[in-house]
Amino acid sequence: MVEVSTSILSVNKENSVKIFYDLETAKTDYFHIDVMDGEFVNNNTIELMQEYSNQIKQISNLPLDVHLMVKDIKPFIDAYIPYEPNRITFHIEACKDKEEVKKYIKYIKENDIQVGLSVKPNTNVEEIYEYLPYIHTVLIMTVEPGFGGQKLIPATIEKVRKLKEYIEINNIEVDIEVDGGINQNNVNLLKEAGVNIIVAGTAIINSENYKDVIEKIKE
Ligand code: DX5
Ligand code: ZN
Repeated sequence: MVEVSTSILSVNKENSVKIFYDLETAKTDYFHIDVMDGEFVNNNTIELMQEYSNQIKQISNLPLDVHLMVKDIKPFIDAYIPYEPNRITFHIEACKDKEEVKKYIKYIKENDIQVGLSVKPNTNVEEIYEYLPYIHTVLIMTVEPGFGGQKLIPATIEKVRKLKEYIEINNIEVDIEVDGGINQNNVNLLKEAGVNIIVAGTAIINSENYKDVIEKIKE
């Protein structure tokens, strides 16, 4: 059984509260918050994601799954601690050295928040192996981060398989989350490869029936 984390990146501002309410009714497992700083990626969603997180916290108890696509990580961890997210994920590519990676892992955990570490499509998944015993989730990007509505890059599925095999052989407990271009038609490939958490944005938000799509992704 996989969990669904709905990316709210492409939610329309006019009726956002209604959409968040409907997503909860449709049984999304998490709200996926895509924080982009205009530096690590071109897009800037800093204010929008803050506004949406405030709205969600007012109407829902569902867990927040915060995905930081930012260059300067610490201020954004601090900005999201008050929202008591279930998980904060940051990018290994944004860290200048191993010490920095370890520092943020420790800092997020000290705040009773689970830690996710993410790799972009061109980063080898082996780069995160040494951190696996200390984190909760690996987020494998299945598109180049920055925008919703892109097409999944097929080569990234191989990374999921590789990671799944590695954690099984080494008996490591860590969730595998995938993000970008996922829909009810290609999700099975990812499930077969061993993922536990599916991020989906436009596939859910642009559909007529959220519940239907979420169910199809989970089944
Ligand atoms: C990409 C983001 C996403 C993504 C999800 O940079 O991390 O979470 O936009 O949206 P879809 O499912 O539309 O690709
Ligand atoms: Zn994301």
